[in-house]
Amino acid sequence: MEYIFSLEFIYLIASITYILGLKMLGHPETARKGNLIAAAGMTLAIFGTIFLYQGEVPALIYALIGVAILIGTIIGWIVAKKVDMTKMPELVSLFNGMGGASAALIGLIEFHHYTGNQLSILTIIAAMIIGSVSFSGSMIAWAKLNGTLRNPIRLPKYNILNNVFLLAILVFGAYIVISGADSQVYLYILFFAALLYGILFVIPIGGADMPVVISLLNSFTGLAAAFGGFLYGNMVMLTGGILVGSAGTILTLAMCNAMNRPLANVIFGAFGESDDAEAGSDSTMKGSIKQASPSDVAILMNYSQKVIIVPGYGLAVAQAQHVIHELEQLLTSKGIEVKYAIHPVAGRMPGHMNVLLAETNVDYDKLIEMDDINPEFQSTDVVFVVGANDVVNPAAHNDPSSPIYGMPILDVENAKHIIVNKRSMKPGYAGIENELFYNQKTSMLFGDAKEALTKLLHELKNM
Ligand code: TAP
Repeated sequence: MEYIFSLEFIYLIASITYILGLKMLGHPETARKGNLIAAAGMTLAIFGTIFLYQGEVPALIYALIGVAILIGTIIGWIVAKKVDMTKMPELVSLFNGMGGASAALIGLIEFHHYTGNQLSILTIIAAMIIGSVSFSGSMIAWAKLNGTLRNPIRLPKYNILNNVFLLAILVFGAYIVISGADSQVYLYILFFAALLYGILFVIPIGGADMPVVISLLNSFTGLAAAFGGFLYGNMVMLTGGILVGSAGTILTLAMCNAMNRPLANVIFGAFGESDDAEAGSDSTMKGSIKQASPSDVAILMNYSQKVIIVPGYGLAVAQAQHVIHELEQLLTSKGIEVKYAIHPVAGRMPGHMNVLLAETNVDYDKLIEMDDINPEFQSTDVVFVVGANDVVNPAAHNDPSSPIYGMPILDVENAKHIIVNKRSMKPGYAGIENELFYNQKTSMLFGDAKEALTKLLHELKNM
């Protein structure tokens, strides 16, 4: 019975909830519950640590911890409640930055408590460097995503400069560990140097690559937390840190694979130079486009047997997920087979389209992953691309000079008819033209996704 109320037992339960939660995040049906389970485990671990910690803790410390938790909870709750789905990567980068800052602060505070213990000092220095890089890097990523920092800033020979600077930080860190120098000044020099490196690391990278960078920084924060867990012998912190670190790494690589770009190309390359690609100029591609009205599209769909919907970032911006679900239900009630084609990097964050459509209770069996849906386009009467662009751009197949060449895409060209809904001829995230819009089989349904879909729905209801 005593064991049940022990910190070890609570940490064991919390660790299990993290693993369970992570597993459940793998499917839209269970993701929300998984998140709640892991959050409950985290709460248990926090309160277990506060109340079951063996040692003298003055009442003032309890009060300070209580106030800090209260302020953090209120801010976190309000911000997370208010944030738009399309701004989620920004929020993740802010939260991730806070994790990195915590790890760095632990390093600053604990350094003097472990003088003479080389392994602990090594752990502290590693956590502090990684945490600081993660904090300042995340802040830059946040500023890039919200448009404060619009263009990548590149110093001359920035790649070499960054690598030399990183090497200098590592050498200096190693010197502190090996020499056993108990110097506050050295510690602060290292801390500020690591912060500066975080800025130098992220600032040259284009806004388009920020989701990948955030995921990478997220894995850094996990690693820094794991070092903290190792330092304190705190198993739940260690487990949590390792899980975040490895999940972040896997996610980073999965995103790079889905875009067919090596991680080094994301960090050192220049894809998506400007994050205002969507505000770019109108099309310069030669050729003519066909326009369709909502009633043209309604007639086409009404006489179809199979329709595939391709949702993209524009659907999320327009908050048109409920209307698209209504459209899908209406078509299904007319005996038309409807499916959604989900590209792994459609939208602006991993699983963006799944989360968006899950909000409307779309039947998950209708959400088909890219590899499974691609062979189906050939037998599809109408493919309806809503606010998607790069993920259906054939340049990925046929233009070796294109920055997205080699990226796996949804082969919508194989369908009998292609309808594309977007507001203009402006490019998507990668800032490049899309020859799909000039395809003989393509008709453009211009307009905001929510408005265009509402009109389309109205037309279809009257048929
Ligand atoms: P995009 O290529 O960004 O295209 C979105 C399109 O939506 C734009 O061309 C825009 O055209 C249109 N749009 C915007 N607002 C709209 C509205 N209110 N109504 C209708 N249309 C609207 O999106 P995608 O095809 O989903 O591709 C995602 C891109 O993000 C890829 O390049 C991918 O590599 C990148 N990326 C994604 C991730 C993850 S994990 N999802 C991570 C890193 C990078 P108009 O302005 O003409 O309307």
